[in-house]
Amino acid sequence: MRIECNGRAMENHTYRITLIEGDGIGHEVIPAARTALEATGLRFIFDEAAAGWETFERIGTSVPEETVAKIERSDATLFGAATSPTRKIEGFFGAIRYLRRRLDLFANVRPSKYHPVPGATPGTDLIVVRENTEGLYVEQERRYARGRVAIADRVITYDASYRIAEFALELAERRRGQLALVHKANVLPLSDGLFLEAAYDAAKRHPTVEIEEVIVDACAMRLVRDPGKFDVLVMENLFGDIISDLTAGLVGGLGIAPSGNIGERAAIFEPVHGSAPDIAGKGIANPTATILSAAMMLDHLGESRIARALEEAVDHHVLETGPRTPDLGGSRTTQEFAEAVARELRRLLTG
Ligand code: NAI
Ligand code: MG
Repeated sequence: MRIECNGRAMENHTYRITLIEGDGIGHEVIPAARTALEATGLRFIFDEAAAGWETFERIGTSVPEETVAKIERSDATLFGAATSPTRKIEGFFGAIRYLRRRLDLFANVRPSKYHPVPGATPGTDLIVVRENTEGLYVEQERRYARGRVAIADRVITYDASYRIAEFALELAERRRGQLALVHKANVLPLSDGLFLEAAYDAAKRHPTVEIEEVIVDACAMRLVRDPGKFDVLVMENLFGDIISDLTAGLVGGLGIAPSGNIGERAAIFEPVHGSAPDIAGKGIANPTATILSAAMMLDHLGESRIARALEEAVDHHVLETGPRTPDLGGSRTTQEFAEAVARELRRLLTG
């Protein structure tokens, strides 16, 4: 057994993993992912922590300090989903957005890779790297003119842009060596111009990476028509939020799209989807996105062989032999699917 934490291998390490179910289907997909993780043969200490809307209703904060402390002392965290009401509620803040900023999880990594599910575009194998700490997500809004004018700040800094570009360049170097800088500098030359300036400065240290500038709206169109042309794409926060839902759609939808929020001190892996109140409590949520997020987590911890086996186990089940959940046309429950993945994983690892 090999663990490579920042490149160093360790034998028989016990990983401390914080599990945050959050709200809605988070209570279903996290136990499912845990079932899959328990089939890896690795040693884990799972530490459960609270966050989200239900936590806010219970104790008046969506992220207790104890949760932050648990995340900081664990090797990695797996997060389900948290509900955010669309109207403003005094004292409430979005749990995952808060954690990204509080723990400086500056890189949101969202891979979209073809898995054989209905509606997926073959040949898609790309990663959206979304800046995770600024842009419109500084959440600074104001109203003027007796409430008839509203302004939201969109903050772009040189340092955050340089740091996210550097992260994406390193990722591109380990993949096919292509990086798309996605922007809207034609309309926002001062802010997105600064993003590009920082990205080109970072690129000077990565001469082998082929850089392409793509305007965000054209990027959306090109992704739909020819996703196979893209490798790594880097962009500011809101563009990354929207474009990564589009790329999730390219490979079969939210039920299967994983992500990671990565910083220097901590990392939180989570499905791209939300708490899905329309299906919560029914036991039919597709746990694939969360299980693939767990695979990303294992890869981040240096367990790449087991991460790949877990992905393969998911593929085999999402696809051919397919005990699928209802969103993919099947009739299996969340937990039945997870148990099928766990069985397949054990077979792959021992066979
Ligand atoms: P959503 O992702 O929760 O649901 C969108 C649609 O996809 C729904 O029809 C849902 O049933 C379906 N869906 C999502 N995940 C699925 C899964 N694993 N299996 C099967 N079907 C699935 O997005 P929505 O409805 O816009 O938001 C619901 C709540 O989640 C809101 O309060 C929102 O703020 C929150 N949210 C939280 C996120 C997070 O915790 N990172 C991300 C996105 C939304
Ligand atoms: Mg989103």
